[in-house]
Amino acid sequence: MTATDSKKKLLFVDDDPAMVKVVGKILGNALGPELIEFHEAESGEKGLEIAGELQPDIVICDINLPGMNGFEFCRKIRQSRLHATVILMSAYDENEDYALEAKETGADAFLIKPIKKGELLFVVNFILRIEHLNETVLGKNHELQEDQRRLNDNLKDIMQMNSKLESQNTQISSMNKELVERFDSTVGLLTNIIELNQSQHRGHSERVAEIAVCIAQNMGMSQDSIGSLRTAARLHELGIVSLPRDETVEEALDEGKSRPVTSHPMVAEMLLKGFAGFESVAELIRHMHENVDGSGKPDGLVGEQIPLGSRILSAASFYDHYMMAHPDSSILEVIKKVEQANGTWFDENVVSFLSGYALSQSQSSDEKTLSCSVFALKEGMVLASDLYSESGINLLRKGTVLDRDMVNKILKFNNVDPIAGQVQVKS
Ligand SMILES: [Fe+2]
Repeated sequence: MTATDSKKKLLFVDDDPAMVKVVGKILGNALGPELIEFHEAESGEKGLEIAGELQPDIVICDINLPGMNGFEFCRKIRQSRLHATVILMSAYDENEDYALEAKETGADAFLIKPIKKGELLFVVNFILRIEHLNETVLGKNHELQEDQRRLNDNLKDIMQMNSKLESQNTQISSMNKELVERFDSTVGLLTNIIELNQSQHRGHSERVAEIAVCIAQNMGMSQDSIGSLRTAARLHELGIVSLPRDETVEEALDEGKSRPVTSHPMVAEMLLKGFAGFESVAELIRHMHENVDGSGKPDGLVGEQIPLGSRILSAASFYDHYMMAHPDSSILEVIKKVEQANGTWFDENVVSFLSGYALSQSQSSDEKTLSCSVFALKEGMVLASDLYSESGINLLRKGTVLDRDMVNKILKFNNVDPIAGQVQVKS
């Protein structure tokens, strides 16, 4: 059984040639040249010189040497920071405790002369085992360090990949945001065109969008569905643009009468469905005049066969049309009118949320809105409704906080295309 996998260099320092010969023979016979490389020196000075070049693993040194003694030799070895195991040896002296002094000089073991073969091999083998254990531990440490280095490299790669992914996600988010803004601008342009054609119920599309989104949120619809519904509400009267002017007026005044006969939802669907991004919007508008009892158009769908967004759009549009056509009616009267069609035209659950919205709007508008002339507008005022010119151009949206530049532009625009009616602002 080998105590170590690699050959160890042993330096034996003694001025007694016979002792050197005996020890060399014992170690050579017991361990063999494949385990021990035996070197010798006859003095401490020579031993230090050889040790500096040899870098031995084990040094065995007699204490009683001519010139530098064994203790001094041991101190020099320790000061030189050689990583050698040092064994000092001396003849037995009952008046001296050489072992204690050997320990103080930094020796690792002490042998009493005359050295017995068994004791020498026991000590040397013990040291070789310790060396072997040290090498094993160092090897494991090296492996662990290599594993740690690989883990660090992998971690670095992962962090770099994460960084790239985050960068790509940021770019994608930015592109998505830009696409959404462009899509929204396109919808806004179409909404303005619709409203330019419908001075009788100006702002209807945006109000229906606000009502529909509120109902959808309270009903727990997904953000994607709410987005499609909001767009559908803003464009739900796109088909009316194609109607003759007198029919457009009729639509605005009483949807209750026009609803059973008009086909403008299908016109809007045809205009929209061919454009990417508008497919679900076109579908919602197509079914906005379906009735929950199956008597509606165009497919006679019943109850939940009608897309929920279409059911919401149906009730919200009717509510706002009725408000426009009957400006003297109270909120409760309008709600009552809508509820009369519960279970026939409208989904009862949707109407319930619509009633909640209407009542909350009634309370907030009674408390905070006032009318004023365009010339009384001031910086800091908040618009309580959309601002239109008489020709139907939507200048600013409800909720806009006026600044000095906006007020000046409104007054200049008023000289060219007067502002329609009184301006509603929040008090
Ligand atoms: Fe409508």
